[in-house]
Amino acid sequence: MPLDVINYSSLQVSTFIKSVEWLVEVDSTNTYVLQNLKSLGASPALVGADLQTGGRGRGKNQWWGAEGSLTFTLLLQPNEFNIQVQHWPLMSLMVGLAVREGLLKFLDHHQVSLKWPNDVYVDDKKICGILIETTPAQREFVVIGIGLNINNSLQAAPLGIQESASSMLDLTGCLHSREEVLTSLLQSLEDVLVRIPAHLPQLLAEWRQHCFLTGKRISIDDSQHEVAGQCLGIDDDGGLVLQTESGQRKFLAGSVTVLE
Ligand code: BTN
Repeated sequence: MPLDVINYSSLQVSTFIKSVEWLVEVDSTNTYVLQNLKSLGASPALVGADLQTGGRGRGKNQWWGAEGSLTFTLLLQPNEFNIQVQHWPLMSLMVGLAVREGLLKFLDHHQVSLKWPNDVYVDDKKICGILIETTPAQREFVVIGIGLNINNSLQAAPLGIQESASSMLDLTGCLHSREEVLTSLLQSLEDVLVRIPAHLPQLLAEWRQHCFLTGKRISIDDSQHEVAGQCLGIDDDGGLVLQTESGQRKFLAGSVTVLE
């Protein structure tokens, strides 16, 4: 199957992106952006790649790369959207919410939900992972890396990933234009970012409505402890709240496993 070509100059017309660089192959678009901060174009800047050979995920995760998937990183300044520093940690949730919104029109009849902090799930499988990083060298920027399985069937993935992930091709049985999907994601991302300063409570309410974990028995590993309990959802700081045997506990970071 020939790889569909992304006409990235049209992205600058139809979305809020001001500069685009598209690579045929790179280890990780996030790493590329972090290493080339000074030479990237105007922000919001987008760096995409047709193939990542060393895609990184949160914590120890890796991101499986395959032709037909969409992998890109955005470099942007939250200040441009009047997002205050204390709300930066919530951007991680908000990017997930935006990706969900952007995907909906391609995935009618499917349940698209958000697994804290920012994985996007369709039905019971992960379709998109998001890695947000900051850089001490340029504190005003955030680096938002997004990996979305579009035309890459999970049949080609390693076994462990096949069981837990899905792609738009596998779900709908047809190929999708990566450019159309990317445009839709960027448009909803702009909508969400613009709403953060004045409408955060409403955005958090929307996030809660689509939480994949609420009500489920889960365990969370915050790299120091593993704690099990029933998920009560997120609080206003974006923390995940668990009802454990010893009372309620809140986590600001960690990796979650669903136990039931
Ligand atoms: C996760 O699932 O833990 C997050 C995965 C994030 C993957 C994307 S793909 C584009 C960008 N470049 C990377 O190396 N990682 C992110």
